[in-house]
Amino acid sequence: MRIEENFSLLSYNTFHIEAQTRYFAEYDNETELASILADKRFSELPKFHIGGGSNLLFTKDYEGVILHSNMKDISLIHEDDQYIYLYAQSGLIWDDFVAYCAEHSYYGAENLSLIPGEVGSSAIQNIGAYGIEAKDIIYQVHCIALEDGKKYTFDQIDCAYGYRQSKFKTDWKNKYIVTGVTFRLNKQESYTLSYGNLQELLKDEEINLNSVRRAIIEVRESKLPDTNKLGNAGSYFMNPFVEKSRFDALKSTYPNIPSYFVDEFTVKVPAGWLIEQCGWKGKSLGNAAIHDKQALVIINKGNATAKEIIELAITVARDVKNKFDIDIHPEVIYI
Ligand code: EPU
Repeated sequence: MRIEENFSLLSYNTFHIEAQTRYFAEYDNETELASILADKRFSELPKFHIGGGSNLLFTKDYEGVILHSNMKDISLIHEDDQYIYLYAQSGLIWDDFVAYCAEHSYYGAENLSLIPGEVGSSAIQNIGAYGIEAKDIIYQVHCIALEDGKKYTFDQIDCAYGYRQSKFKTDWKNKYIVTGVTFRLNKQESYTLSYGNLQELLKDEEINLNSVRRAIIEVRESKLPDTNKLGNAGSYFMNPFVEKSRFDALKSTYPNIPSYFVDEFTVKVPAGWLIEQCGWKGKSLGNAAIHDKQALVIINKGNATAKEIIELAITVARDVKNKFDIDIHPEVIYI
C-alpha cells in the first residue's frame, strides 16, 4: 500500500498536466482497499478512482483522495469447449491483458490492442476500437461499494453498456470501485475484420491473432500520438449520433461524409472528420493543438494548462456546431 500526501499527479495523467492531490492512495489487494475506505483521515473527503489517467483532464488540484489499484493478476475462472472465462484485476494494463489473450490463443480482445488504460476503466468506459467494444467480451464486473465496502458482482447486461457508456458513468457514478472483470474469450478461431481498411492491411498476410494484433497496433501508432512523447488522452470527443434524415441532408451537401450505422434511424458521424472539415487539423490555440494525423485528438504541445486545452475544445466544438449544426461532446472526463 502506498499513501502520499500533497502528491503530484503529473505522471498519473497522459495529458501530462501538473495537478496536486491532497492524498494519493494505491493498494495492492482488496484488504488494503477496504482499510483505505475505512480510514478516518479520508472518510469526509471526496474520492476519485483513476486507472491509467488516459481519459481524464485534471482542471485543478484535487482536494480529496485519488485512489489507484495496483492489482494486476489474471486467473482462470472456467472453461468449456467454446469459451474461456478469465478474471483480470483492475490495475492490469489493458494492453498487457490483450497481449496475454493473443499469446494464449484466446480470441475477441485483439482489436482492442494498444488502447491505453487499465482493466478497471475498460469496464467503466466500455472502450472500443475497430468494430469491437469491451462489452463484447465482458462477462461480469466485480466491484466494492465506496459507501460500505461491500462486494458486488454485476452481469454484463446489468451494466447497460452503450457507445462509451455504462451505468458506472450514470446511475452508479461514484458508487462503486471496479476491482476486477471476468472476460469471456473465444477458444475457437474468430476475427472481426470489417472495420475500415483492416482487411486491406492484412491482405498479404496469414490471418492469425499476432498478425491482426500487429495490424491494429500499426494503425493506432500511425494515427495516435505516443502519450509518452506528446501529452494527449486519445479521442477527445465522442463521435456524435445524428438522425438518419438529417444525415441524408448533410450527405447531399458533403457527399464524402463518413458514417457508421447505428440503427435504421440513426448514424454515427466521425467527429474527427467534422473537425478536419472546419480546418482545425494540425492547428493550435496557445499550447494546445489538434493532432495533425487524427483531428479527434487534442495534444499538449508542452506546457499546456487544462484551461488552454478546454478553450481549444470549446472553440472547435463551436465551429463544428456553426458549420454542421451538430453538437460534439468530450469523451475526456474533467476532474
Ligand atoms: N477522419 C477524418 N479526419 C480525421 C480523423 C478521422 O476524416 O482527422 C475520418 C476517417 O477518414 C474515417 C473516419 O473519420 O473515415 C473514422 O476515423 P477513425 O477510423 O480514425 O476512427 P474515429 O471514429 O475517429 C474511433 C474511436 C477511436 C478508435 C477508432 C477506431 C471514438 C471517440 N474514437 O475514432 O478510439 O481507435 O474509432 O475504431 O469513438 C479513443 O477512444 O481514444 C480512440 C482512439
